Amino acid sequence: MDATSRRYLMCRPTYFAVEYKINPWMDPTAPTDADLAIAQWTTLRQVYLDLGHTVEEIPAVPGLPDMVFAANGATVVDGQALAVQFRDPQRADEAPAYASWLSRAGFEVHEAKHVNEGEGDLLLVGDLLLAGTGFRTTHAAHARAQELFGRPTVTLQLVDPRYYHLDTALFVLDEHSVAYLPEAFSPGSQAVLRRLFPDAVIATPEDAAVFGLNSVSDGRNVVLPVQATGLAAALRERGYHTIGVDMSELRKAGGGPKCCTLELREANR
Ligand code: ARG
Repeated sequence: MDATSRRYLMCRPTYFAVEYKINPWMDPTAPTDADLAIAQWTTLRQVYLDLGHTVEEIPAVPGLPDMVFAANGATVVDGQALAVQFRDPQRADEAPAYASWLSRAGFEVHEAKHVNEGEGDLLLVGDLLLAGTGFRTTHAAHARAQELFGRPTVTLQLVDPRYYHLDTALFVLDEHSVAYLPEAFSPGSQAVLRRLFPDAVIATPEDAAVFGLNSVSDGRNVVLPVQATGLAAALRERGYHTIGVDMSELRKAGGGPKCCTLELREANR
């Protein structure tokens, strides 16, 4: 089991808050602590650096409290970036901020054209692109991603509003394996996942509820919420090395480690 070194883009939660409600986790009347969010985020970033990954940072923009969720900033494969278009107007201005950062960093940026929330819903596993829909990213965006990236793109129907992005219900372990919560998908999509990944790690509702499936793997090391203890044990049994991080503050906005992490894939990968 080999780790491959990755390049990630992250956004410090300088202006983090829960100011509106666009998913069931968000409660704008409950207090949030931006300093704690920054501390948890800084630990996550340090974990990546300690694993030997590269972490780039996009400056946070005042008035965009969800901008910390960099996974929603784009999808980047082969040095090509597919820009995003958010469903909700509260997040709309994040899209041009990410697009211009990526273009300045040398990526070719392609316009979204349809509601598309980036790696929140589009996950590359080996040569396949798994594409979630049902709440945010549309079918039309899946077709656009397939055309742009030239990777077979498999639509998966999300059915539980708590798991509104694909990356809250499934994560990629390595080129051939994933972990997921079957109940978050329609019966047909569950059958597709069984066919594609007969040996997948099946998560429990308890582990999913602490954002255990919002995890980041480099092929060997899995960075996951420390509260997802059952999942961590199952992964260790498979030979993965697990690293628990506490993202409790960011969870108040409906996010975990993966939501804070956008993978930047260069032209040769
Ligand atoms: N509050 C944000 C939203 O509802 C959370 C986004 C989490 N990001 C993710 N990749 N799942 O859009």
